[in-house]
Amino acid sequence: MIPTLEWTREGVRLLDQTRLPLEETFVLASSYQEVADAITTMIVRGAPAIGVSAAMGVALGVKHSSAANLADLETEFKQICQVLAATRPTAVNLFWAISRMGVRFAGLLSQSGITIDAIRAALIDEALQMYDEDIAACRAMGAHGAVLLPTTGGVLTHCNAGALATCGYGTALGVIRSAVELGHQIQVYADETRPFLQGARLTAWELMHDGIPTTVLCDNMAASLMRRGKIQAVIVGADRIAANGDVANKIGTYGVAVLAREHGIPFFVAAPWSTIDLETATGDDIPIEERPAIEVTHHGGKQLTPNGASVVNPAFDVTPAKYVTAIITELGVLRAPYAEALQGLESAAAAG
Ligand code: MRU
Repeated sequence: MIPTLEWTREGVRLLDQTRLPLEETFVLASSYQEVADAITTMIVRGAPAIGVSAAMGVALGVKHSSAANLADLETEFKQICQVLAATRPTAVNLFWAISRMGVRFAGLLSQSGITIDAIRAALIDEALQMYDEDIAACRAMGAHGAVLLPTTGGVLTHCNAGALATCGYGTALGVIRSAVELGHQIQVYADETRPFLQGARLTAWELMHDGIPTTVLCDNMAASLMRRGKIQAVIVGADRIAANGDVANKIGTYGVAVLAREHGIPFFVAAPWSTIDLETATGDDIPIEERPAIEVTHHGGKQLTPNGASVVNPAFDVTPAKYVTAIITELGVLRAPYAEALQGLESAAAAG
């Protein structure tokens, strides 16, 4: 399995995604601040991987805390969470993971006689459990979603929603992997995904690693391929899904969804329940990260645009729910109307 991120005794070991596909190197984040930097600089990226890395960052911060008592530890815990929460604003998995660590921490603090060492151990366990749950969720999404993909044909994906974006297996790419395991003859078309090139660099790398036939295309080629009948389905991941089913995902996803509708091609979104944000009413309420201009003006250290050219670099866009054929989660496949479907699944999950 692709080792995206891993808890070690020394810290969080991350496959450096800024260097793929040419170099397979690892970075050891040995403090919570280094985990935060790795998330900000996209050494680790993809909503579920960001969430679990942040949980490990919290565990690491508490592990290294020199707090003399529980009150000091509580103050330090808040500071650790704030630093990690300030890294990237769009992927709700980040806030979900930090909040889950907070709930666990509060539960531990309420136990009489609990020691700081016991808290350290329990928080590491919680982060490791989230890691295992993420892989299990990806496998379940794969099982639910594989049958939705064509038995033979082209499947287009945007960005990287694969093993590299999760603790393993992937969301959208996990569904493709499961379909291939079932015997579907799938040709994957990977949008290059300007400006960070997650499709060209990461999706192509990890699918080739698994021997799944993959063709990279520039983002502006999707319409033409659809018109020529090369694409039978689109599947993408998500960074946040609002209560009405609007989907925030990598910039460019919205355009792909509109094109898919125009060409009568199903548009699927695969995401774990930790990506669903029922407290955010619609896509308009989702904060969209603006990344540094240099990601657009330069590539590989080379300047592409004239000096002084103004640049816009929103990292995500919102696809309105009306373009989404189905949302594939580990709990099942949801169809419109999404507000009811999401609320119904939430209530069923809460009831156990
Ligand atoms: O900016 P990135 O690379 O973190 O953006 C990643 C995406 O947009 C993914 O599609 C999304 O996080 C889902 S990953 C399973």
